[in-house]
Amino acid sequence: MKKILITGGAGFIGSALAEKLCQDGYDVTVYDNLLRGNKLDTKTMENITFVKGDVRDYKLLNNSAKGCDAIFHFAAILGVDIVADNPIETMDVETIGMRNVANAAIENGIKKILYASTSGIYGHSAMEQAVDEEIIVDPRTSYAMAKRYNEIYLAALHEEKGIHSVALRFFNVYGPKQDNRMVVPRFFEQAKANKPITVFGTGEQTRDFTFIDDTVKSCILLMENMKGNAIYNIANESEGCIKDLAVHIKNVTNSDSEITYIEAPKKRYDYEVERRVGSSEKLKSATGYKPDTKLEQGLEKIFKVI
Ligand SMILES: NC(=O)c1ccc[n+]([C@@H]2O[C@H](COP(=O)([O-])OP(=O)(O)OC[C@H]3O[C@@H](n4cnc5c(N)ncnc54)[C@H](O)[C@@H]3O)[C@@H](O)[C@H]2O)c1
Repeated sequence: MKKILITGGAGFIGSALAEKLCQDGYDVTVYDNLLRGNKLDTKTMENITFVKGDVRDYKLLNNSAKGCDAIFHFAAILGVDIVADNPIETMDVETIGMRNVANAAIENGIKKILYASTSGIYGHSAMEQAVDEEIIVDPRTSYAMAKRYNEIYLAALHEEKGIHSVALRFFNVYGPKQDNRMVVPRFFEQAKANKPITVFGTGEQTRDFTFIDDTVKSCILLMENMKGNAIYNIANESEGCIKDLAVHIKNVTNSDSEITYIEAPKKRYDYEVERRVGSSEKLKSATGYKPDTKLEQGLEKIFKVI
């Protein structure tokens, strides 16, 4: 049985990945400092090894990596406001965490690292068309800069140590269990309470929302097919504006909420990016698959379980 370590595995994406890998018969270790609580369900908790620890603690991380075949490195500080308020810690967790994961892989002979990067590193590059992995990136926040640094670090690690790696550029992942640092659960909360759904700015800014199940499926397919060092967009390839997202969520929840438009706080640099949509062609060439859940379907699925 293949043994997999997931850092940040108690979080939104990591817990969904851990649950699926467990169902598929993998031996899973989750390593997380529980900064955001624990999103793993009880059944999965019974079937995995759980280690409460910080990715900046090399000794504990290294011990937890023993015997593993692959590492998904997902532990991170995220959320636009949180990152804006804590840029140094955000970068520390990224850079020290990555260095420790890399060293643990070297020390334990682990040949595969899959790292959660972000579409945020495209910054203002994504204006005219769906961005592919070749476009020149434009990281603007401490978070996006550290993610790009780690992508380059992984490329060097492959050159120097032969460790295979994938940087997964996630595009606005959404799904059940996500917390209200992100826009989709925030709108659901407001809609369910019949409170105003608060949209920052004009609401014309677009994003590419990718459903959690599709994201997890892409991660597992890439783990099975990876070789060398590569970057992949995990994108739904559908551009939707935040105003429409608010309308969809109001409809799905049958809510009486008003949709209101408020000025974004200055520190929310991310909202100054007007458009973002990704191409998943490279993912499709490597795995035969690309995300395919339509936003309305994904929102319905969330509403069924919240
Ligand atoms: N959710 C998205 O739309 C999205 C988009 C792009 C990239 N990503 C990346 O995907 C990964 C997972 O994101 P998520 O949405 O599941 O976020 P999340 O906040 O739900 O999960 C992150 C997990 O990391 C843990 N963590 C934080 N600091 C840690 C530390 N120092 N040591 C150990 N654990 C620590 C947290 O407790 C949490 O469980 C992150 O690397 C994130 O940057 C997410």
